[in-house]
Amino acid sequence: METRIIKIDENNIDKSLIEEAAKIIREGGLVAFPTETVYGLGANGLYEKAVKKIFLAKGRPQDNPLILHVHSVEQVKDLVEEIPPVAKLCMDKFWPGPLTIIFKKSPKVPEMISAGLDTVAIRMPENKIALELIKEANTPIAAPSANISGKPSPTSADHVIEDMMGKVDMILDGGDTGIGLESTVLDLSTDIPMILRPGGVTKEDLSKFIPNITIDSSIIKEDEKKVPKSPGQKYRHYAPKAEMLLFSGQVDSIVDAIIVNTEKYTKEGKRVGIICTDETKNFYKEGLIISMGSRKNKETIARNLFNILRTFDHLEVDIILAEGVDLSNLGIAIMNRMMKAASGKIIKV
Ligand code: TXA
Ligand code: MG
Repeated sequence: METRIIKIDENNIDKSLIEEAAKIIREGGLVAFPTETVYGLGANGLYEKAVKKIFLAKGRPQDNPLILHVHSVEQVKDLVEEIPPVAKLCMDKFWPGPLTIIFKKSPKVPEMISAGLDTVAIRMPENKIALELIKEANTPIAAPSANISGKPSPTSADHVIEDMMGKVDMILDGGDTGIGLESTVLDLSTDIPMILRPGGVTKEDLSKFIPNITIDSSIIKEDEKKVPKSPGQKYRHYAPKAEMLLFSGQVDSIVDAIIVNTEKYTKEGKRVGIICTDETKNFYKEGLIISMGSRKNKETIARNLFNILRTFDHLEVDIILAEGVDLSNLGIAIMNRMMKAASGKIIKV
C-alpha cells in the first residue's frame, strides 16, 4: 500500500488536508495522526472492517481493546450505557486531554473495539489536528498508539514512518507530541474508580475530584499471577531491542550501581547504553549516555523517554542501564513504562 505523508501545522490547520484524511477514515482506511500524548493509528470506530485493519497493521493481539476518540461529549452518549456523575465531572475537568475513561458500553460499539468486554474506553484528545479530524470524519475514531505492537509508542512522525510505512493510507505529520506518554486509563464502569494505566493526568490530579480513587496494584510491580484488569497490561511493551535493567532507589546508589555494571558489561565486550538524568550524566565516563532531562522536570522526562528507547535501538547497544525516578506525579507513569521496557527487571539499590 502507498502511504502518503502529509505535514500539517496544529496552529494553522489546512482544512483541505483534514478533509482528505477524514474521507479516508470514513471510507474504511487507516490514518496515523498526532495527539498530545503519542501518535494514534486511526480508523472508523464504528466500522468493524476498518477496525480489523488496525490489528493487522500493528500485529496487535485481538483480545486487547481499543480506545474510541471523540470530539464532543455529545458523541459519547451513543456509545455508552450511562454517564455516571463522576465521569461527567472528570469529562468537565480533564477533557479535552490525556484521560481515557472506561464506561459500560452501548450495543452500538463493535465487539472488536471492546474485545468482548462489556465496557468501552473513550477519550477526547486535546491536539487540534486530532479534534478536527474526528469532527470532519463524523464518527468516533478508534486509535491505539501507532507503533508495531510491543515497541515504544511513537512521539514523532519519524517513529510512525519507521513502524507504519506501507501499512497505512496516510500519516499526518504534526511534529513531536507534547506529553510523550499515553493517556491515563481510568475505569469508571464499576463502583470503585480505578486507574488502570497511569499517564498524563496524574493520581494527584484525579484525587482532587475523586477522593476514593484507587490504582491497580500491578501498575508498578510485575505480578504474573494477577489477572490484569486492562488487557493491555499483560503484554510486553515499549520494548527496546536490547535487554534493559532498571535501577531504583536513592539517586547516588543508582549512579554507583550503574557505574559498576557499565564497567562489568563493557569488559565483557558489550555496548552499553545509559539512560540518565541531567543531574547525574557527568558521573558516567563509559558507555553511550543519554539524559532524559532534569529530575526536577518530569514532563521533560516523559516527553523524551520513548524517543531515547528508539535511539538506543538505532545505536545497536547490547544492554541498557536505566536510572529510575521517584513515583510522585508523572513519576508513576514514567516508571510503569520503564518497568515494562525492562520486562520487569528492576534492580533495587
Ligand atoms: O494516549 C493514548 O491513549 C493513545 C492515543 C493514540 O490516544 N492511545 C493508546 O491506545 O495508548 P492503546 O491501544 O495503545 O492503549 C489502550 C489501552 C490498552 O492498555 C487497553 O488494554 C486499554 O487501554 N483498554 C482499552 N479498552 C479498555 C477497556 N474496555 N477496559 C480496560 N482497558 C481498556
Ligand atoms: Mg499502545
